[in-house]
Amino acid sequence: MKAAYINQTGPPEVILYGDLPDPKLKRRECLIKVGAVDVNPICVYVRSGGLAMKLAFPYILGRDVAGTVVETGPGVKGFKAGDRVWASNQGTDGRPGTFSEFVAVHERWLNPIPQGESDEEAVALSLVGITAQLGLVRNASLRAGETLFVNGGSGGVGACVVQMAKILGARVITTAGSDQKVEICRQLGADVALDYKSQDVDAAIRDSAPEGVHVWWETLREPNFERAISHLAMRGRMVVMAGREARPVFPVGPFYVKDCSLHGFAMFNATAREQRSAANAINRWVSEGKLKARIDRVLPLSQAAEAHRLQEDSTLNKSGVLAGKIVLKP
Ligand SMILES: NC(=O)c1ccc[n+]([C@@H]2O[C@H](COP(=O)([O-])OP(=O)(O)OC[C@H]3O[C@@H](n4cnc5c(N)ncnc54)[C@H](OP(=O)(O)O)[C@@H]3O)[C@@H](O)[C@H]2O)c1
Repeated sequence: MKAAYINQTGPPEVILYGDLPDPKLKRRECLIKVGAVDVNPICVYVRSGGLAMKLAFPYILGRDVAGTVVETGPGVKGFKAGDRVWASNQGTDGRPGTFSEFVAVHERWLNPIPQGESDEEAVALSLVGITAQLGLVRNASLRAGETLFVNGGSGGVGACVVQMAKILGARVITTAGSDQKVEICRQLGADVALDYKSQDVDAAIRDSAPEGVHVWWETLREPNFERAISHLAMRGRMVVMAGREARPVFPVGPFYVKDCSLHGFAMFNATAREQRSAANAINRWVSEGKLKARIDRVLPLSQAAEAHRLQEDSTLNKSGVLAGKIVLKP
């Protein structure tokens, strides 16, 4: 099968596209003909060597997949050939990555694709959707009527946080780096969308939420606790989920006197059961027409190196070249 893989870590040029052996199916695995995969920043950190992880070479890139089951192992109970499925959390803990024509996935990670949803849409809502759902519901316990602020509302995670927070009944304030992206945030449902490059975001947050925000979701890799905590309401919750190297100052006083709490998490630590529960919510919201994938562009899998270049430029170098997910098709 064709696959996008690496034999060493390094810049995007280390990504090779070529033939690798087809996967061998284990008892509880389904063989999936891949319809679409997507790029996540974590894939960029793994490929570059920035994230210390034991890799067996050739290492196939990719965390997420959407496609069709073509064969099932003898122990598979929940899926059959012909089922359309999506999964996240591959390419880690010994599981192969997804950037290939076929991938074998344990059924515990598989979810059905709702009627009418394309493989491209399903995959673009997988890792980022699970992240947003877990962070809002399991970690921050966002409630209807509360106000949420999310930095970067047109990004991969941000676009899911904006939509899900609205679905959960919250009021949403968000930011983006251009007029066009501010408009995208409004279309996603944000009540207040601000241009962080040209507007006074702090003043606007104070105006729109004089009592403070109940949940501050930080997608930036350099969280500014001074700033975020100053905006938190009584019993406010802050979600941090990016920036492994970040060591910002933490203002203990202003934090505890408001009974605030801090919620850090990495979606890949969530158990298969927790991820399935998040996936069920995602599928339900998609079926109800409330949640939509935010796809920036679709490229052939053979352009995996170019896709990594774009993602790295956008997320790490903050070029702002993307507004949502890059989807790749074998
Ligand atoms: N912990 C986890 O489980 C988990 C899961 C997924 C992702 N992550 C991490 O979360 C981070 C975001 O991931 P992603 O996929 O959403 O990346 P992304 O699609 O590149 O989004 C980054 C966002 O940051 C915004 N941004 C950049 N500079 C900003 C600034 N100064 N002020 C406000 N917003 C700014 C961008 O907005 P503009 O484009 O408008 O500039 C964009 O919306 C990454 O570091 C990733 O590794 C963690």
